Amino acid sequence: MKVFGICGSPRLGGTDYAVNYALNLLREKGCETRYFHVRGKDIKFCIHCDYCVREKKGCVHKDGLAEYYEGMMWADGIIIGTPCYHGMLSGQVKTLMDRSRAILAKDPEILKGKIGMGLAVGGDRAGGQEIALQQIHEYYILNEMIPSGGGSFGANLGGALWSQDRGAEGIAADEYGLKTVRKTVKRFYDLMEKTRGNSDG
Ligand SMILES: Cc1cc2nc3c(=O)[nH]c(=O)nc-3n(C[C@H](O)[C@H](O)[C@H](O)COP(=O)(O)O)c2cc1C
Repeated sequence: MKVFGICGSPRLGGTDYAVNYALNLLREKGCETRYFHVRGKDIKFCIHCDYCVREKKGCVHKDGLAEYYEGMMWADGIIIGTPCYHGMLSGQVKTLMDRSRAILAKDPEILKGKIGMGLAVGGDRAGGQEIALQQIHEYYILNEMIPSGGGSFGANLGGALWSQDRGAEGIAADEYGLKTVRKTVKRFYDLMEKTRGNSDG
């Protein structure tokens, strides 16, 4: 099974750590993985020019997102990891969501049936992680994907992590947050297995 992990933080910090933690667990289960980090990439806003809808040839911008588009189309499962900015997901993640219109305009069912999970990293313990996870799930639902939570008694909507503003070091020490990632990865993997079973007939 193919998993595409996305890090929506502009730096090498806690979100990068958390997404790679999840991808490592999935590789141990036999998944093939790809990783996309927004850091250092030239990523333009969607300008609502409707080129993608009119031409159905992708996006008018030819910037740093080719690898992102390929990963989204290639994957059976998608992990969006975001830092919490002002109690919600990062602008970088929102821009990736908006820019995915380019592949959806070409094929509205391109994401249909893929499994999605979310990871949210806040500097505060209750800094908007659940709101960011809801926003990620809304994106999945809107595009006919299957959102995966982590289950009650531990993970609920997904991976919710607390960096204490100490980046990767903070997340490595956040044992409870890492448990939410493990629980969510388990559900995510199980859902991918189930849906693959269905499509195999
Ligand atoms: C613009 C901005 C806004 C932030 N807003 C919040 C917030 O609302 N809640 C929170 O818990 N942390 C907030 N933080 C802190 C980051 O979420 C935290 O440091 C996190 O670890 C950043 O992720 P990273 O380590 O992957 O870069 C904010 C940071 C920035 C730069």
